[in-house]
Amino acid sequence: MSTRQSGLCAVMENEPIDSAVFRIAVAWEQDPPPKAGQFFLIKPKRSSVLLGRPISVARYDGRAVHFLIIRIGSGTQELAETREGEDIFMIGPLGNGWADFLPGVPKNGKPVALVSGGLGCAPLMCFTEELSRSFPSFHFYAGFPTASPRLTGMIAALSVPPQKLIVTTDDGTDGEQGFITAVLDAGDYAAVFSCGAPAMLKAVAAVCGKAGTACFVSTENRMACGVGACLGCTVKTIYGNKRCCADGPVFNAGEVIFA
Ligand SMILES: Cc1cc2nc3c(=O)[nH]c(=O)nc-3n(C[C@H](O)[C@H](O)[C@H](O)COP(=O)(O)OP(=O)(O)OC[C@H]3O[C@@H](n4cnc5c(N)ncnc54)[C@H](O)[C@@H]3O)c2cc1C
Ligand code: FES
Repeated sequence: MSTRQSGLCAVMENEPIDSAVFRIAVAWEQDPPPKAGQFFLIKPKRSSVLLGRPISVARYDGRAVHFLIIRIGSGTQELAETREGEDIFMIGPLGNGWADFLPGVPKNGKPVALVSGGLGCAPLMCFTEELSRSFPSFHFYAGFPTASPRLTGMIAALSVPPQKLIVTTDDGTDGEQGFITAVLDAGDYAAVFSCGAPAMLKAVAAVCGKAGTACFVSTENRMACGVGACLGCTVKTIYGNKRCCADGPVFNAGEVIFA
């Protein structure tokens, strides 16, 4: 039985985070409450795009779902232009969650690593409270193209902050210069949870595979229906093709066949 809901929901806040990224909070008090790792299909009530865009839950405060969004094309641009009180059409919560994979994390006394690329930090930030109940010790590795002081500050100021926050930037404007995978010693961790661009997820899965560390990735494939009907979001796995929207978006990296 589907537990997703749909409807028009009011924008409660819309604030710029940096030149391309913004945060919107959208009223949502329906059951079930969204889980970290899940996403919604969202688009403004007045929109030129046919389909809602899949956006991960960055935070749920009991009254509103908070999304962190980067402007890419017309769908995300329209969302950036929404104002307080304006209606957004929401379908969700959709997909599985990070916590579904916690039983697969060995309790070997090692901390857990959260590893993000760009705005992949959003669904991982949402996870920290839930994660800390099973694994109080966790580190956050955040890779950005360039220094992102607001996003870095948001990670540091989480209600349950990481014990360590490691930042890398492609251009060296914050933290170490280079890719986040270069500073990740996967063997130090009980498990790695990761979200970012496909190439980054492939690299994270490779370093975890080499270290024998459990790894779970959130795949952000391009979607159409978002609810499992069109088979337009295929993720190749060792068990055959899976649907990113309905079987994921979170998968055991050891099962994913990366392109
Ligand atoms: C499960 C899931 C969770 C996501 N969570 C977030 C989030 O929290 N914040 C956020 O900003 N974005 C997130 N995304 C990506 C977001 O859905 C896309 O950026 C958005 O759909 C682009 O819509 P648009 O109309 O602005 O651009 P479009 O005009 O639809 O596309 C512009 C360009 O971006 C490419 N593109 C579109 N979607 C994707 C994608 N998923 N991966 C790679 N390239 C793409 C298109 O091929 C095109 O070249 C998520 C995607 C998925 C599948
Ligand atoms: S987007 Fe249609 S099945 Fe996933």
